[in-house]
Amino acid sequence: MNVLLIGSGGREHALAWAISASPLLTRLYCTPGNPGIGEVAELVALDVTNHAAVIAFCQTQNIKFVVVGPEAPLVAGLVDDLKRAGIKAFGPSKFAAQLEGSKGFTKDICAKYNIPTAAYGRFKDLEKAHAYLTQHGAPIVIKADGLAAGKGVTVAMTLPEAKAALAEIFSGRFGEAECVIEEFLEGEEASFFLLSDGVHTLPLATAQDHKRVGDGDTGPNTGGMGAYSPAPCMTDALCAEALEKIVTPTVRALAGMGHPYVGVLYAGLILTKDGPKLIEYNARFGDPETQVLMLRLRDDILTLMLATVDGTLDKISVRWRDDFALTVVMAAKGYPNDYVKGTEIKGLDQDFSEDLQVFHAGTAMSNGKLVANGGRVLNVSALGKTAAEAQQKAYAAVDKINWPEGFCRRDIGWRAIKA
Ligand code: AMP
Ligand code: GLY
Repeated sequence: MNVLLIGSGGREHALAWAISASPLLTRLYCTPGNPGIGEVAELVALDVTNHAAVIAFCQTQNIKFVVVGPEAPLVAGLVDDLKRAGIKAFGPSKFAAQLEGSKGFTKDICAKYNIPTAAYGRFKDLEKAHAYLTQHGAPIVIKADGLAAGKGVTVAMTLPEAKAALAEIFSGRFGEAECVIEEFLEGEEASFFLLSDGVHTLPLATAQDHKRVGDGDTGPNTGGMGAYSPAPCMTDALCAEALEKIVTPTVRALAGMGHPYVGVLYAGLILTKDGPKLIEYNARFGDPETQVLMLRLRDDILTLMLATVDGTLDKISVRWRDDFALTVVMAAKGYPNDYVKGTEIKGLDQDFSEDLQVFHAGTAMSNGKLVANGGRVLNVSALGKTAAEAQQKAYAAVDKINWPEGFCRRDIGWRAIKA
């Protein structure tokens, strides 16, 4: 089977690496990809916003399956258009992708089906939003309704901070001015990944990431500076509780609306003293969580994805390595603020151990040299018998990479090691 993968990040390199090992695969294409993905797939330049062009490419190359990595093409309805053209695609429809694309959509489902989440109000009117703030006080959380690349959320510890966040949203910075204001939840955060074929769900694995740029979880938020799997705090009992009280009712709700959720569901949870509560859903794999998930996966990812699209998840199971996986993100100095592109990266051609993979994120080739081409650039990912061993292996590899203009956190996995 010929497969087209869409995306260019570390998540897509990890997916490409796993898909390329599938016995079902004939040929793997990726658009736009990156130099790391180019080692396992044929890179093609397609305008992914032009659905007709993607369909035409699939038809000429006899591509029978498309895997969508990032959220934007899902929210734009690429999967719906591919399906209409008779091409199977992994990822939810435009309607179902609202679970990630609209915080208000998800909150309304939670309210209707009694799914544990933070208490909230949904506002299109600044006056009413202010009134809600004054009534509830700080700490409180302000979220822009739509996709904001992780930058639309403010956890406000004081009322003035909360008011400033509202002013920003109602200035139109994140598109249409609409917001969710919600109760501040306290507890450890963890991510739970599942496949849903619309009717059946298959739990995959748990992970935790490090959103802040600095050691000790300090400094501004980023797209993620590292991750590990499994998340020690997500016991089997908590996974079962999250499945029963959060994920299953959500999957049923969407099926009931006539838009079954087909794809990977990434539930962001906070483990409060009253049990797991939903913070958000993502309608795609996490980045960098996928890098650690793919290292631990023992079964064929393409078989799992096809069963998801074919509605046969009840007929298969999934096996994971007992090992712990950890990934360290190497970023360009200055990230998540201004940083330079084009600096050379050396040392990736050496032999790393078998249980170590360096996934590319923002890299490019320039005059035959590998250079940095984004904020988050490499994901140095290792397996170990314990969290400490995986961490030690990942940093040993980081130290062999010669990229003076890059940096990384030095404490990825601290919570798991402590546990
Ligand atoms: P989100 O984009 O919804 O995942 O939010 C980004 C981050 O904000 C989360 O990972 C949490 O750390 C934090 N956050 C979001 N909602 C809440 C909440 N209700 N209470 C406390 N922290 C939150
Ligand atoms: N690592 C966070 C995300 O993928 O949204």
